Amino acid sequence: MYLKIYDQWRFLIIGLAFFLVLFGCQSANYPIDFEQLGEDERIVIRFSHVVGEDTPKGLAARRFAQLIKERSNGLVEVQVFPNGFLYKDGEELEALLQGDIQMIAPATSKVTSLIPEWSVIDLPFAFNSYEEVHQYLAGSAGQDLISKFDGKGLRMLGVWDNGFKQISNRDHPIYDPKSLQFLKMRIMPSDIIHKQFSSLGAIPREIDFNILFHHLESGDVDGQENTLSNITSKNLYLLQNYITISNHGYLGYVLLMNNQFWEELPDHIQVLITDTLKEVSEWERETAHNLNAKKLKELEACQCIDIYHLSPEERRSWAEEFQPVYDYFIERFGTKYIEALPKYQR
Ligand code: LMR
Repeated sequence: MYLKIYDQWRFLIIGLAFFLVLFGCQSANYPIDFEQLGEDERIVIRFSHVVGEDTPKGLAARRFAQLIKERSNGLVEVQVFPNGFLYKDGEELEALLQGDIQMIAPATSKVTSLIPEWSVIDLPFAFNSYEEVHQYLAGSAGQDLISKFDGKGLRMLGVWDNGFKQISNRDHPIYDPKSLQFLKMRIMPSDIIHKQFSSLGAIPREIDFNILFHHLESGDVDGQENTLSNITSKNLYLLQNYITISNHGYLGYVLLMNNQFWEELPDHIQVLITDTLKEVSEWERETAHNLNAKKLKELEACQCIDIYHLSPEERRSWAEEFQPVYDYFIERFGTKYIEALPKYQR
């Protein structure tokens, strides 16, 4: 209680100071540099994530921090903690809910422990393009998914793309889904991704992104699925001999803030964050698409891994193999989220 009142006063004083700077001091050519203030006099947003700084999420997080700092004159500081330095995969959501950090951007698959319906995004061959994903999320099924964060103490502020996942492994080329049988595959924590592999006789295993390299190196798992920017940023391709460009599943991020923290921010700071995130999200999407395309070219040029591209016909026949995964989703959540998928709208 004491803390809450203290926080409210803190935000009020900060808001007043921000107002004075914008409308008073600036015109008198007397800019205040909020960076000189202590942490408890500024608004600090700790933003934790698990990937490297040279990935779409890592680059966008830094850009967001930089723009917010400039635009608030240092009053709002976004401190970015990459590579799971602060919290690991399985920990960051809990840390956000506890208020130990204020912002995260987990893959949609990783919020399925909290809101299992989000696993609709993990269904193999559900989307053919980024636009399809964004249209789905803007539609009624997507809005329903987004509203589910409200009751969980979280505020969703947007979606960042990474890209579509590809399948790599050490043992043999994967031309058709049946070749996945008996392969030990690393997965993100999602029932649907688990089912995607187990329904084909593969052995899925949940492993944190940051320690995946070691598990591939030791042979605990034979392969994995991920975007090219993630595969290259952690050098996973060095431990894999084959990669199938399957584009079978979307990997993107939900931008989440602790809702109590968000609610206590002054209105103009909320506007600053929302507007800046909108701008950064557009930049992030373009960066993600370009980076994944660039990484494919680099992999082709390095000749260090055997690359197989699925043809459009092969994609269609792969998609049919995954019907049991769709049936499993329907058993759990009904048809509402599936019927709204673009492939059933055509
Ligand atoms: C993964 O665990 O493979 C990804 O979610 C990592 C990330 O955040 O892109």
